[in-house]
Amino acid sequence: MPQHIAIIMDGNGRWAQQRGMDRIMGHKAGAETVRRMVEECVRLGIPYLTLYAFSTENWNRPQYEVEALMRLLSSSIRQEVPKLKENHVRLNAIGHLEDLPQVCREELEEACRLTAHDFSLTLTLSLSYSGRSELKYCMRQLAQQAADGTINSQDIDEQTISKNLYTADLPDPDILIRTGGEQRISNFLLWQIAYAELFFTPVMWPDFNGQHLREIIQQYQNRERRFGKTSAQVQQESLSQAQK
Ligand code: IPE
Ligand code: IPE
Ligand code: MG
Repeated sequence: MPQHIAIIMDGNGRWAQQRGMDRIMGHKAGAETVRRMVEECVRLGIPYLTLYAFSTENWNRPQYEVEALMRLLSSSIRQEVPKLKENHVRLNAIGHLEDLPQVCREELEEACRLTAHDFSLTLTLSLSYSGRSELKYCMRQLAQQAADGTINSQDIDEQTISKNLYTADLPDPDILIRTGGEQRISNFLLWQIAYAELFFTPVMWPDFNGQHLREIIQQYQNRERRFGKTSAQVQQESLSQAQK
């Protein structure tokens, strides 16, 4: 089973427009999908689910859409806390959270605090997030530490970088899914997806369901993750692993 699934939840707006509805209705329907996917991941025993909910670039959308998304975020978080606790889900958030409206941030912090104990799934919402800005903050932090003399530039390795990202306490994603038909990364988890298996589906996020997710996991299980090695090496390794 994959340990960490990351999803670029795309297609809400088109889903609504195809039905002659306002884009906001698509976001509302998308919020329902989030609930279903969280429940599915709990059922499947997946320990980490990370969702791209709002990118740094999404601040450039029309003001009414941004405001509606922020309102939806606050109300969903508030509403979902009991269900999250019941399902043993810990809420976590990454991104430049200082950009969010004060109320959103307070709701979010409160929900993270209330769900911090007794969990089997860590649900991470990426909010005002972009991979490049995450790397920028990481580099600034490391440059400051080097200037202060608390680290030596020679000692900065890949682990140091991973530990200075928003995702410091998350494993790298095994699977990255993008719904909505586009085949791009849109600035999501640039460092962390170095070896993720990528899946692109034309299904719009509001229509994405447990069956779709289980099919992707099945395909993932049939892929050979070689991490640069040859197929023969990988097979030999899993053979000796099985013999242990
Ligand atoms: C994804 O759906 C949700 C957010 C980016 C907030 P979109 O709103 O991007 O939907 P499309 O791509 O316009 O259909
Ligand atoms: C990516 O979707 C961001 C989120 C899903 C939150 P977008 O719809 O914003 O991506 P682009 O602009 O089409 O690349
Ligand atoms: Mg989109």
